[in-house]
Amino acid sequence: MHTTREALLHRLSAGNKALSGEDLATSLGISRTAVWKHVHALQAEGLDIRAERGRGYRLYDDVLVASTLAEGLAGLRIGNSCMVMPEVDSTNSELMRLATQEGGMAPDGTVLLAERQTRGRGRLQRDWLTAPQHSLAMSVLLRPPLAPTEVAQLPLLTAVAVQQALLDIAPLRIKWPNDILCEGRKLAGILTEMRAEPGAVHAVVIGIGINVRPPEGGWPEALKLIAGDLRSAGGLSDTEHGIRRMDVALAVLRRLDVLYEQYLAHGFEPIREAWWQAHAACDRPVRVHNGKDYIDGIAEALDADGALLLRTSDGLQRIISGDLELRENI
Ligand code: BTN
Repeated sequence: MHTTREALLHRLSAGNKALSGEDLATSLGISRTAVWKHVHALQAEGLDIRAERGRGYRLYDDVLVASTLAEGLAGLRIGNSCMVMPEVDSTNSELMRLATQEGGMAPDGTVLLAERQTRGRGRLQRDWLTAPQHSLAMSVLLRPPLAPTEVAQLPLLTAVAVQQALLDIAPLRIKWPNDILCEGRKLAGILTEMRAEPGAVHAVVIGIGINVRPPEGGWPEALKLIAGDLRSAGGLSDTEHGIRRMDVALAVLRRLDVLYEQYLAHGFEPIREAWWQAHAACDRPVRVHNGKDYIDGIAEALDADGALLLRTSDGLQRIISGDLELRENI
């Protein structure tokens, strides 16, 4: 059951145009005065809704609305239950709590989006910056019929989903293991976490962070040269809604749903193929930092468990985790 607030936001955000108070009142089954009051309440929350003479109310902010998400994912596994929260520590942590804590049995396919993350996390214990109104922080809960060792395939599958879903906007590539890049800048990352016991996976949370637009005031110094965003990568305009987060989220989650169903039916091989095709460094010289050493070689293949096979001067090496840097020469 949606609240009037949610239903109003859903309508205002759907068309990217002004809607008359009368149409809103009819579709919501409330009076025009009630519409006016709800619009004022949303404005008081800080939302940019303007009353345009002769046309009606128009929402200028790029908002995240759970019912819009649910409607766009209706009938799919991914999006089976949809939530949007204004602020969480991390969507991954919150969804894992909802999936595993006593009384918390969030179902397979639950999606959680948050406007703000106070402790957004990245791979290798790094922080992840989510710029409110400009970034997407979303997590998906799966309860896959997989062995714990196979779960490493899911972030690779997710990287393919993100890359394919957004290819129409920008020429994206994957960088091992699952960074999404455009012209060398990272604009999305994936963090997968699991609760399992030997032989049984209880919950897998796949967190996806996407920089849709650069943060207000630009990137912090440390990220200036490495972070990218979808709008700039796609050369889209800065005006109004050049690109809306809800559309980006829906495109990615729908693609994830398709690939996950294919994966359950046909296994990892087609995903591995697609990942390799999208990889920025296939058969190219790379340097990998595994936390301890730097290893130079040619990226030769992706293993079924997500390891990168590197042809080095000492022979073929399996790299399980680390950071990859593209090189001109070995
Ligand atoms: C990386 O490239 O290091 C992974 C970044 C993953 C960030 C996302 S944002 C949504 C979800 N919640 C988190 O705390 N992290 C992931």
